[in-house]
Amino acid sequence: MQPAWKKFSENLDINEKGHLLIGQHDAVELAKEFGTPLYVLDEDMMRLCCRRFNQAMQEHYDGNGLCHFACKALCTMHTARVTAEEGLGADVVSGGEVYTLYKAGFPMEKAYFHGNNKTADEIELAIDCGVGHFIVDNRYELDMLNEIAEKKGVVQKILFRIKPGVDAHVHEFVKTGQIDSKFGVALENGEAEEIHRYALGLKNVQVDGVHCHIASGVFEAGPFLEAAEVMMDFIAKLKEKYGIEAKILNLGGGFGVAYDEEDEPLPIGEYIKQVADTIKRIAKEKGLELPYLVFEPGRAIVAQAGVTLYTVGGVKPIENVRTYVSVDGGMGDNPRYLMYQAKYTALLANKAAEENVAPVTIAGKCCESGDLIQEHVMMPELKVGDILAVLGTGAYNYSMASNYNRIPRPAMVALRGAEKRIVVKRETYEDIIRNDII
Ligand code: LLP
Repeated sequence: MQPAWKKFSENLDINEKGHLLIGQHDAVELAKEFGTPLYVLDEDMMRLCCRRFNQAMQEHYDGNGLCHFACKALCTMHTARVTAEEGLGADVVSGGEVYTLYKAGFPMEKAYFHGNNKTADEIELAIDCGVGHFIVDNRYELDMLNEIAEKKGVVQKILFRIKPGVDAHVHEFVKTGQIDSKFGVALENGEAEEIHRYALGLKNVQVDGVHCHIASGVFEAGPFLEAAEVMMDFIAKLKEKYGIEAKILNLGGGFGVAYDEEDEPLPIGEYIKQVADTIKRIAKEKGLELPYLVFEPGRAIVAQAGVTLYTVGGVKPIENVRTYVSVDGGMGDNPRYLMYQAKYTALLANKAAEENVAPVTIAGKCCESGDLIQEHVMMPELKVGDILAVLGTGAYNYSMASNYNRIPRPAMVALRGAEKRIVVKRETYEDIIRNDII
């Protein structure tokens, strides 16, 4: 019988030893060779996801647009290079992300710089690195950017971040499109219109388009279509009232991915087709040029490409309560269960074909009761030394990792065909104390 995870993990399989296969690689061998905890990144899968976005833009919008990898989902020099090679742009949100991409040789004119509180230093760095567009969040940032751009003798291209007032029915922490959000300017109270009017009087910024991002982990096309409609109406208004030509429509990211067999996200092509059709229809109705269309997928590019491998330590059955299985990582490398009760599928990489016998709770090693990776997971008989694999950890795991309890962050190994290569070194205790001054 096929394990349930086969349904949503097209890059995973079980080999003749009954071990989990990631791409062409035996997960148990990877754990042996590189140690655990280990982030495994199936680079072929990441590339396939990039290509699906590119293809969909080609097919449904004549290639009149680009997908930008929201690198907050996974930002390393390696992923920057893969993103560039696949022809995607990038969304960056901090000086650190700008710097990482720049040092990796990313074509910075294809980067959009986000963030609700960019500092003057970050703005300078981004201009110096040649970031293509700023997604301006507020009036304070706008004035500061205009001033810095003037000092540097440049005219910076910008888009404003708009709150379109669309509710995307996801966890409160990852909703961003409604008026009560720290990001951007709202449509419904006239703020968005006002900042565009104000920007017309500034000499060192040039408004190229509009941006919105409604939420993360959205499973239906509906909220994207609603956002597209609201934003197209706004583009029409800007043109009519102020003569502003918003040539770029950036609808953000948020495409949901499957974390277990119950999740059924739309295929990427389907989201993009429906949004593209909506935009074409409204453009025709309102006599507008078709805008250059941008999406910013993060999760949908890397989530499925990631698997985290752990070694099982203590197994603690508590009669009539539950069984805790402790692994050699936890909230330091994956804080998402603690933060969002995020779902994950876990299995034993060295017993991938064995029958599940009982539910367990997977616990991390931090000094914190909430440090769990998942609860109520059906597992085969477990023993110390088993290799536990958590699937779908490519997005927002490494990028949200911490050194809580002074635990070094894991290494990351990238798989491409038969090749495997460390792309992020395992942290050492020396790394942990590097910035301490006694
Ligand atoms: N564009 C903007 C402006 C964003 O704020 C985000 C995500 C994205 C694109 C990419 O969204 P995605 O396609 O990855 O859903 N830490 C949370 C997710 C926070 C997302 C923040 N912004 C998590 O672990 O679920």
